[in-house]
Amino acid sequence: MTPSGAPPALVTGVTGLVGGAIVLELLRRTDAEVLCLARDSRREPAVRRVPRLLARMAADYGMDDVADAIATRCRVLPGDVTAPGCGIPEGLLPPAVGEVWHAAASLKFRARDRAEIDLHNVTGTRNVAELAVRLGAHTFDLVSTAYAVGDRTGLLAEEPVPADCRPNNAYESSKMAAEALAAGIPVGTVRILRPGIVIGHSETLAAPTTFGLYSYVGELNAFRARIEPRLGNYLDHYPVAMLGDPATRGNLVPVDRVAAAAVRLGLVGAPGGIYHLTNTEPTCLGEALTALTGALGIRAPRWVSDRAELNSIDEAFNKKLDFQGAYMLQDKVFDASRALRHCEDLLTVPLGLERIGEYITRYVEDGAAEAARARRKAAQRV
Ligand SMILES: NC(=O)c1ccc[n+]([C@@H]2O[C@H](COP(=O)([O-])OP(=O)(O)OC[C@H]3O[C@@H](n4cnc5c(N)ncnc54)[C@H](OP(=O)(O)O)[C@@H]3O)[C@@H](O)[C@H]2O)c1
Repeated sequence: MTPSGAPPALVTGVTGLVGGAIVLELLRRTDAEVLCLARDSRREPAVRRVPRLLARMAADYGMDDVADAIATRCRVLPGDVTAPGCGIPEGLLPPAVGEVWHAAASLKFRARDRAEIDLHNVTGTRNVAELAVRLGAHTFDLVSTAYAVGDRTGLLAEEPVPADCRPNNAYESSKMAAEALAAGIPVGTVRILRPGIVIGHSETLAAPTTFGLYSYVGELNAFRARIEPRLGNYLDHYPVAMLGDPATRGNLVPVDRVAAAAVRLGLVGAPGGIYHLTNTEPTCLGEALTALTGALGIRAPRWVSDRAELNSIDEAFNKKLDFQGAYMLQDKVFDASRALRHCEDLLTVPLGLERIGEYITRYVEDGAAEAARARRKAAQRV
């Protein structure tokens, strides 16, 4: 119980980008005890891993004010959402929970991983929902994605996905199924929260993730390393051609704004239904990719609309971007009227070329610092 006598909140996905930020925001904005459902890793039990990662996120986000609360108000529930009852040992189950935020998911997307993706995102949601009902939760917040709308383009409302919607990949189809399942959970309020493409913290720019915008960094660096032995610094001198339309909009939204909006909807008692936690100021992908390549020190891409215009190097690169490929052609605009009623101040974040470049530079620097730390650790072990 919290000092106010309210039952604790339960959050899944707490070691991840969005779930971790939700926990920190709950610690800042409420006096709730926060139950953090998380898996053991191969090297570290969840009870140690969760406070360590949350403390690191708080430091990275400049949230020193919640550092003590991580130790005093977070309780780790070791579990796995793919297991019945989420695999939480009976003796550790709380008598009751209040609001549940379900952010754990697989962000894989390839068809070959469909069974695993569905297990995590559909069965996982069912297991967390059953646990929430069993523990008497009054509210269930499913963290979905604004991109669970398939290949539709244009203005997209905060509405259930139509049955005839064609998903772009296995991730989207699992999120659509999870949304449909969540809508029927028998608790007082079910909110489906759909963030855009989540980027780092709006002030510190820190981003503990490799997904979304940052996946381009990984793909570009891997591609550069692959072609270097044969072609040297090709990418520094020649713009790689990308199949897509640079005017296509991508909805980038900082993680702290997503978490703050998610928690605010809970605090104001927003009614159930779908909420787009998206930026009212979307970014053109051409601009985002120019900023990104600039920060990596390579030439900005050249955009083409016809596959025939790709040379063999471009072709190899575009193949690597198979996940992002669809999003570079499908212009989606998210109507966030319902979310903006409560969170307009949080969800308006102008992001120009320069600012996106700063996000990427911070990401690259953090990666380099992390690699140096890992090398030092390995050297100490020898
Ligand atoms: N990142 C984005 O751009 C974005 C955009 C829109 C929506 N979303 C949605 O936001 C949610 C969170 O995404 P994210 O970016 O925070 O992903 P993330 O950083 O990869 O975090 C995923 C979290 O889920 C946990 N998890 C995965 N499988 C689990 C299992 N079987 N049992 C327990 N925990 C499990 C992970 O734990 P481990 O540390 O143990 O792996 C991790 O804490 C997802 O629903 C995603 O679809 C993300």
